[in-house]
Amino acid sequence: MAETIEIKPVAGAISAEIAGVDLSAELSNSTFDAIHEAFLNHHVIFFRDQHALTPEAHKAFGRRFGSLNVHPYVEGMDGHPEIMEVIKEPGETINFGGGWHSDMSFLEEPALGSILHALEVPPYGGDTLFANQVAAYEALSDGMKAMLEGLYAVHSASREYGARGHSAQQRSSMQARTAEDAPEFVHPVVRTHPETGRKGLYVNPAFTLRFEGMTRRESRPLLNFLFEHSREERFTCRFRWSAGAVAFWDNRCVWHYALNDYHGHRRHMRRVTVNGDRPI
Ligand code: SIN
Repeated sequence: MAETIEIKPVAGAISAEIAGVDLSAELSNSTFDAIHEAFLNHHVIFFRDQHALTPEAHKAFGRRFGSLNVHPYVEGMDGHPEIMEVIKEPGETINFGGGWHSDMSFLEEPALGSILHALEVPPYGGDTLFANQVAAYEALSDGMKAMLEGLYAVHSASREYGARGHSAQQRSSMQARTAEDAPEFVHPVVRTHPETGRKGLYVNPAFTLRFEGMTRRESRPLLNFLFEHSREERFTCRFRWSAGAVAFWDNRCVWHYALNDYHGHRRHMRRVTVNGDRPI
């Protein structure tokens, strides 16, 4: 029997909450198609109360969209290398994902999307922000769009996962290895979404180091402008987590930022990342 699902936008530029779906069950093709369409239209989708979502069901949902990524630098969950446990313990100060980024843009074929499931949430704080990079691109002047058109940028995990990088900081809750020697890959600054055909900005502060053929110093003014522009409030939404909630975002056109405003409390999430293709 077809499930009755309800899709409600959460903010003007990005995101919708979907009710009436149990992600732990096998989804009918029609339900899957409705979820897929909402994902493409709203760029990040949220589900509440997915308390029955086991690691196996979480991975099975991800596999409906593509093969699953095993993170090259962060150790996966015991018995489930494709699941990253995103944890901050009450005694820790550093969180994971606490800066604007697009997951895995440092790969030759960056992630399609990430599916984050909340197991334990703090009593306040710990929200995640998302920013729509198609809207950010479309809001640029024609002159700026024309200038960016032929530009490529170099992405790498070397800074973020370097010895002093945010993501490689050692903590008891998550094991990450440093990657000073991480490879560099070049991606277009304006990316065409492979499914919707829409153009969006594809640079981010965590993993984009410079423009191809330019020094970091030469690249910085324009990159800084794009980084400021891309996170303007009008392109964003903010998700307040509850235990059992799931967020699924499209890394091909979305930035996100995990807020770190709940010191002294535990936050425990599980992330499955779906592999994507080479940006064009
Ligand atoms: C991430 O960057 O994947 C973590 C997001 C979050 O914990 O809210």
